[in-house]
Amino acid sequence: MSTDQFLEKALLLAKEAGEYQRSRLWTPLDIQHKGEIDLVTEVDKRSEELIVTGLQRAFPDHDFLAEENIYSDRGKNHKWIIDPLDGTTNFTHGFPWFAVSIALEVDGEIVLGVVFHTMMAEMFHALKGEGAYLNGAPIRVSSRSPLRSSLLATGFPYDSATDPENNFNHFANFQMRTRGIRRAGAAALDLAYVAAGRFDGFWESKLKPWDVAAGQLLVKEAGGVVTGFAGEPYSVYSHRIVASNGLIHDEMLETFKT
Ligand code: IPD
Ligand code: CA
Ligand code: CA
Repeated sequence: MSTDQFLEKALLLAKEAGEYQRSRLWTPLDIQHKGEIDLVTEVDKRSEELIVTGLQRAFPDHDFLAEENIYSDRGKNHKWIIDPLDGTTNFTHGFPWFAVSIALEVDGEIVLGVVFHTMMAEMFHALKGEGAYLNGAPIRVSSRSPLRSSLLATGFPYDSATDPENNFNHFANFQMRTRGIRRAGAAALDLAYVAAGRFDGFWESKLKPWDVAAGQLLVKEAGGVVTGFAGEPYSVYSHRIVASNGLIHDEMLETFKT
């Protein structure tokens, strides 16, 4: 089985799930609360089922880690890491900014990432060592610096009212040192936009592997840099992520110290 076959299937299922989501946007939804703020809809669940069933059928020997269900970890070499709908709050409120995120980890390393931005018909993909692409054309991170001229993206955890690690301090510090910050509400897209050179950097804490697995590969394959807040090597299972075009990375790391 080759990486091309994995990619072909991931692209197909991302498109299918995205089209289903588009058909359900602005329609009545069955919405449930995972927490006080954190929502889940029938569309998140149905999208996950569609993607996981499709992959399971094609690759019965692979493991799965996805947001809306627990799948048994059978210790397989291949593990798909899936956020069926990144941007659920947006989706639920009819704000059309959300994406499907699918990544493949092989022997502990993310080797494939797909992010489908349904409403813009933009399919991002990356394969380890083979670059990052948008609708089939190569993409690169921006060449913008210094930090003062940069546009950044971030997000806040669902429990920001109760956990002091709520990103408010970093947000204020970056707001004073950059051209601006966007909080669009879908981390997978924030990372895809860094890869495409539309954002110059992104940081967030308390994200889950499915939020970032595909997007961080896009950034690296587009020539960017991804680390933890102190510049330490990054894993999708880490707590904190900072991704940038590389040129403003040190200035971003300095900002976390202020
Ligand atoms: C959320 C989004 C958001 C980020 C949250 C994530 P979800 O994912 O990526 O941008 O700030 O922390 O949980 O819940 O919409 O899949
Ligand atoms: Ca998510
Ligand atoms: Ca989600």
